[in-house]
Amino acid sequence: MAAPSPHTQQKLLLCSVKLLLAREELAAGLQLTSLSQEALQLEVRAREEDADVTVTDADGVCVFKCLVNRDTEYCRVGKQSVLITLGYNSALLQFKSQAAENKVKWPVSPCNNSWIQRQKYNGLVKKQLAGTFFYMLEYNTFSNALQRCCSQKKYSVFSQRTEEASAAQYFQVVLDVGCGSGILSFFAVQAGARKVYAVEASSVAKYAELLVRSNNLSDKITVLFGKIEEISLPESVDVVISEPMGYMLFNERMLESYLHSRKWLKSNGMMFPTYSDFHLAPFSDEQLYMEHYSRANFWYQESFYGVNLSSLHNAAVDEYFQQPVVDTFDVRILMAKTVKYTINFLEAVEEDLHRVEIPFVFQMIQSGLIHGLAFWFDVAFIGSLVTVWLSTAPTEHPTHWYQVRCLLQTPLFAKEGETLSGKVLFVANTRQSYDIQIVAMVDQTGCKSGNILDLKNPIFRYA
Ligand SMILES: *[C@@H]1O[C@H](CO)[C@@H](O)[C@H](O)[C@H]1NC(C)=O
Ligand SMILES: *[C@@H]1O[C@H](CO)[C@@H](O)[C@H](O)[C@H]1NC(C)=O
Ligand SMILES: *[C@@H]1O[C@H](CO)[C@@H](O)[C@H](O)[C@H]1NC(C)=O
Repeated sequence: MAAPSPHTQQKLLLCSVKLLLAREELAAGLQLTSLSQEALQLEVRAREEDADVTVTDADGVCVFKCLVNRDTEYCRVGKQSVLITLGYNSALLQFKSQAAENKVKWPVSPCNNSWIQRQKYNGLVKKQLAGTFFYMLEYNTFSNALQRCCSQKKYSVFSQRTEEASAAQYFQVVLDVGCGSGILSFFAVQAGARKVYAVEASSVAKYAELLVRSNNLSDKITVLFGKIEEISLPESVDVVISEPMGYMLFNERMLESYLHSRKWLKSNGMMFPTYSDFHLAPFSDEQLYMEHYSRANFWYQESFYGVNLSSLHNAAVDEYFQQPVVDTFDVRILMAKTVKYTINFLEAVEEDLHRVEIPFVFQMIQSGLIHGLAFWFDVAFIGSLVTVWLSTAPTEHPTHWYQVRCLLQTPLFAKEGETLSGKVLFVANTRQSYDIQIVAMVDQTGCKSGNILDLKNPIFRYA
């Protein structure tokens, strides 16, 4: 064993927590075992890569102990709780105050993007962190939209319907599609919903159920485990809420389930988000292009342990170029005003998303080499008086969707004033994602380029 690295830190922090345990074997009728009503002490001994978590009661007796590391599924729930999943058990640590929670130094910050990235966006982590934490903290615009709806009648998204009645009257029944841990459902209740149906197809549904019970909201929020295409609701709803956006908007193909859910919406009902503007623009980034090329250099070796690899170099280059790049960039690399493609969630049908063709004509505002196309999206929550936007544009504060760039196989030179025309074609595949086909031509010179990419397999390049 190597000596402990000099960076290794021992940290000891104490604060009061309430501990709730749930056992999977009881998942059908989730039983919460509150180990103690009195305040417990939480101790986190954090090292660089992991941490010992110990909870003791007032007499100093250990009531709960576990090791948390990068492979542990844990996440922040709301502002004062942390949920830890340990095999068959889950522990919800409820802190007495937000300040107490903030004091705890977890081995990897529960909001660490690169950590989520390592977890490959799956299971609990994806649903919990992407679906709730980010939405809450980065995109509280959404909860604002919901809360405004009822708390401030003046700004109610529904107030045009009547001057007299409270907005809550028009916000009675809500459907939360792909609810994850159900945080949007809680916001909906806070905004005055009478009833929320929270639908989740993954096993995370049981955590949503746990949160509903531990927050005493079982009468208002009903968690339904299953696919929206398969479950049945006892009534139609006034509003459908969801966070159906993936990378490049389309990844994960959750938008189709979101559109499908409209079958439960009353004829004058609302969809939150209501529509999305998808943007694309040509960019110039020599460094990114060279970086992609040099990643394939390994395959130039003519004697790698005596094996000549170079015949695979072209295949390696092709493979790297098939990967969309997820990161953010300086808007000055953009060479033309964006082309916008709008999807209206009140009107589009699932089949529209099986094949999405976006034609473009860009008028170049600077001369130079075009290395590819950059993509991002905005979504709008439309009320009768208020429209709230959530933007993932490079000009805005970065979000966990970042922006996505697709390289062309060969760069195209264009002069200011010339036009780049062509199309981007998204074809849905069975891997919950899309094959992307790009063709582009500088009209004045006839020079053409293009690429075929696999949205399921992007490169995450952000620092
Ligand atoms: C996220 O985790 C990485 C790797 O563990 C670390 O280097 C980085 O500083 C962390 N970032 C934040 C914001 O905690
Ligand atoms: C939830 O309801 C139970 C029984 O009705 C009650 O004892 C408990 O204090 C409530 N908890 C909260 C957090 O309101
Ligand atoms: C390695 O393979 C490439 C492509 O097949 C060939 O051009 C090159 O001459 C080979 N190199 C050696 C050292 O055999």
